[in-house]
Amino acid sequence: MGNAIILAAGKGTRMVSEHAKVMQKVLGEPMIGHVCDNLEEAGIDRIVTVIGYKGEEVREYLGNRSSYALQEPQLGTGHAVMMAEELKNETGKTLIVSGDCPLISAETYKEFLKASEEADLCVLTMVPEDPKAYGRIVRDENGAFLRITEYKDCNKEEKKIREVNAGIYCVENSLLWEYLKEINNENAQKEYYVTDLVGIFLAHGKKVSAYAAKDADEMMGINDRKALAEANEWLKRKINAKWMAKGVTIYDPAHTYISKDAKIGKDTEIYPNTTLEGNVTIGENCVITSGTYLRDTTIGDHCTIDASEITDSEIAEETTVGPHSHLRNGCKIGAKCRIGNYVELKNTTFGYNTKCAHLTYVGDAVVGSKVNFGCGVVTVNYDGKHKYRTVIEDGAFIGSNVNLIAPVHIGKNALLAAGSTITEDVPDGDMGIARVRQSNKEGYGSKYLKK
Ligand code: UD1
Ligand code: CA
Repeated sequence: MGNAIILAAGKGTRMVSEHAKVMQKVLGEPMIGHVCDNLEEAGIDRIVTVIGYKGEEVREYLGNRSSYALQEPQLGTGHAVMMAEELKNETGKTLIVSGDCPLISAETYKEFLKASEEADLCVLTMVPEDPKAYGRIVRDENGAFLRITEYKDCNKEEKKIREVNAGIYCVENSLLWEYLKEINNENAQKEYYVTDLVGIFLAHGKKVSAYAAKDADEMMGINDRKALAEANEWLKRKINAKWMAKGVTIYDPAHTYISKDAKIGKDTEIYPNTTLEGNVTIGENCVITSGTYLRDTTIGDHCTIDASEITDSEIAEETTVGPHSHLRNGCKIGAKCRIGNYVELKNTTFGYNTKCAHLTYVGDAVVGSKVNFGCGVVTVNYDGKHKYRTVIEDGAFIGSNVNLIAPVHIGKNALLAAGSTITEDVPDGDMGIARVRQSNKEGYGSKYLKK
């Protein structure tokens, strides 16, 4: 439905970083990810990303969501656009966006595309409280658009202009490739500015218009760490406000970090210092307490997640996790389970109503329903070279401080005696016990303590 060029080759000197600027994260996701998400949602189906400084990072992160054009060396935003030559023969409009404007929503892109329909070139503008060093929109006495002047090239009067360039353009593709050639680098920074297109289009008698965005904050260009913090703050407030309006209790929105892809059911309560990153789904009537970190995880209704870290996992309804537990690498936990205090689960599935309540590590295990783990159970799943599975069938009772040396299979309703180191399979209904018999030495205790 449309083409877009994302400019993402710049070094981002003001960020002072070893990474590509557009890889800096806003609420857990690189800026360029936000830009792509929002463009796709606005109906853009062909994206060319211009990469340069640390371009491999960007390419690896976006993968096949975009094609790539290399800009080397980086001679300015106009020069960057020239690199996206593969769009030369496209028809219709091309959207040019900055990779460092992650907050511009799909709605704004849609409105902008609509507003651009009549023009050969349309520029997204804004009127912020503080126009900072953004390019100035220069107009004549009748208000007609004349040109964009970069801050460093502005005279005293131009610096006072508050209407500025958001760095997003919609342009008739055939004209773009014709007029790009006319951009030169005769300016303060000796760069090829994409912004010069305005003057060039007008000189050729083409129709140039400006579309003023409703919310200047959304247009924020993230050039340094201060702006990055402001972007995080702004998006955090927006997202938290949305979930509160949908019936989620957020006790301290200033200290609750919810990714834009997260989904949360009503009557769920979220305590301060909670972070939800990536694709997190939380059901209704859950309680998520302080210190919880969830990434790419699904939580069913009526769950409590207490000060715990869960990544890449699924938890069914009415299960409680924590305090202080860690679930990772594809755990699938059934309904009405109890996990924690201080439990680590890795690549493990639990059936229904299984309890693992204290100080336990279970990895690479398939555990049935109504299994009970005592305190301090360890699946010994790794021999230093390979990882092995542990299978525990329904109703088994694993005594405290049991080691399960994998691979091992524990049958239905089997009982493992506390303190056992289990190296062989235990059939259904049997008891496995593997520990040294105790002997008491008469009077030895008090004799020893007297010394
Ligand atoms: C740019 C605009 C300015 C506008 C502002 C809005 C120009 C000359 N100026 O300024 O009018 O107000 O955005 O945020 O366009 N890039 C490349 N290759 C390059 C240079 C830059 O790909 O050679 C990329 C950067 O990675 C960045 C984007 O283009 O994602 C914008 O570049 P940046 O240096 O941030 O431009 P600004 O100074 O912010
Ligand atoms: Ca910028």
